[in-house]
Amino acid sequence: MSSVKSTATWSSATDVVKHILDVHHPFVRAELPKLADLAARMGNRTVEQLVAAIADGMSTHMMKEEQILFPSIVELEQAAREKRAPHAMLCGAEGPIAQMKAEHDEARATLILLLKACDEAPYRAIRERLIAFQTDLEAHAGLEETVLFPWAIRLFDAA
Ligand SMILES: [Fe+2]
Ligand SMILES: [Fe+2]
Repeated sequence: MSSVKSTATWSSATDVVKHILDVHHPFVRAELPKLADLAARMGNRTVEQLVAAIADGMSTHMMKEEQILFPSIVELEQAAREKRAPHAMLCGAEGPIAQMKAEHDEARATLILLLKACDEAPYRAIRERLIAFQTDLEAHAGLEETVLFPWAIRLFDAA
């Protein structure tokens, strides 16, 4: 499990993006099939559906970050460093960022439902994996919400 570095240790928003792409997104992608597999073995339709909902939501969410939001942040930072206008950008950072936060909250809420559904003894194995997933999601979404997104808004406002 990765730890959240304090804001002061990040030298650029690009470094934060790299960390998320190196550590958190691969963790989520590695865990989702394992959770789906455990859910299938439990034979509980609700648990399977909730795991599928997190998998769908997080896969699309991370794809949007990787293909749209993060490249925009990296480009904004590079343009600022090179004292030039950024290439074609998102039209405003607030809208896409609000959407990303709403998707984090959706994943958080689904995880809470899942943990409730997996509260009993036979669910111990999946429950432990879900708790580890939740811990990583808090570090991951927390880093985006408290460090990266505010940084992106400052970069966007300055551009
Ligand atoms: Fe992310
Ligand atoms: Fe995110």
